[in-house]
Amino acid sequence: MSGIDDTTLAELKQLMGRYPQARSALLPMLHLLQSVEGHVTAAGIETCAELLGLTAAEVSGVATFYTMYKRRPMGTHHVGVCTNTLCAVMGGDAIFERLSDHLEVGNDETTADGQVTLERVECNAACDFAPVVMVNWEFFDGQDPSSAVDLVDKLRAGEEVASPRGATITSWREAERVLAGFEDGRVDEGPAAAGASLAGLEIANERGWTAPSSEAGSHPATTSVASEAPDASKASASARADTSRAESETVAEESEADVEGGAGDRQDASGGGSGPRAEEGGDD
Ligand code: FES
Repeated sequence: MSGIDDTTLAELKQLMGRYPQARSALLPMLHLLQSVEGHVTAAGIETCAELLGLTAAEVSGVATFYTMYKRRPMGTHHVGVCTNTLCAVMGGDAIFERLSDHLEVGNDETTADGQVTLERVECNAACDFAPVVMVNWEFFDGQDPSSAVDLVDKLRAGEEVASPRGATITSWREAERVLAGFEDGRVDEGPAAAGASLAGLEIANERGWTAPSSEAGSHPATTSVASEAPDASKASASARADTSRAESETVAEESEADVEGGAGDRQDASGGGSGPRAEEGGDD
């Protein structure tokens, strides 16, 4: 099938078996193909289409929509510099420019030695550590141009590099295999949360702050969500949402009823409208 090796074909089918509807496996299947071929190839697209009963155009549409799928061969490492708003003002643009000069590549280009593909990336939801750089999707927090150059030099030299909030760096292809859903045993490496992400929690703990209660009728300042079981909290939040929705629907129904049954009264006051707008209309 399209030059894809038997082992990969078996793993693609294994991924399909993980979902009630096989086509739901398309995203991890594309990650797996990237881990094998270094990018999403035409053969990979055709293989996914054939296995899932989709058209090549449908698979291609997915592969070209998400920026994590690459249409050109990648280097050993993907270095993504966040240049979205917060990281940009904190130095992300300067980091990218410095790396671009140092590596002699532009955006989405790979160094001559094939080691690093440099890319501007959008917000990685790590703004509290801005500016961030990602290597094979692992975070490197609070970077500056000098530390970023040091980072890529170590990668190119084959030195061991570990994310301050994640695993030891392997390669982009190996990371893609993990994203496909094949564990590499490194999931517990590094802290799960650290530094700025926990600052608010630490301040709240010092000052005895707790989240407001979701119990109906209770005063927010006197009770804590912490005393409420998670399931109960979800249930009461759901109940509030239902109540709010029901109230909105009631108002909407009443408005419709007014339109149908009381038009004469409103026309006297507003020329056809109702509520605040009607009063405004009546003044015209
Ligand atoms: S703007 Fe860079 S992580 Fe959010």
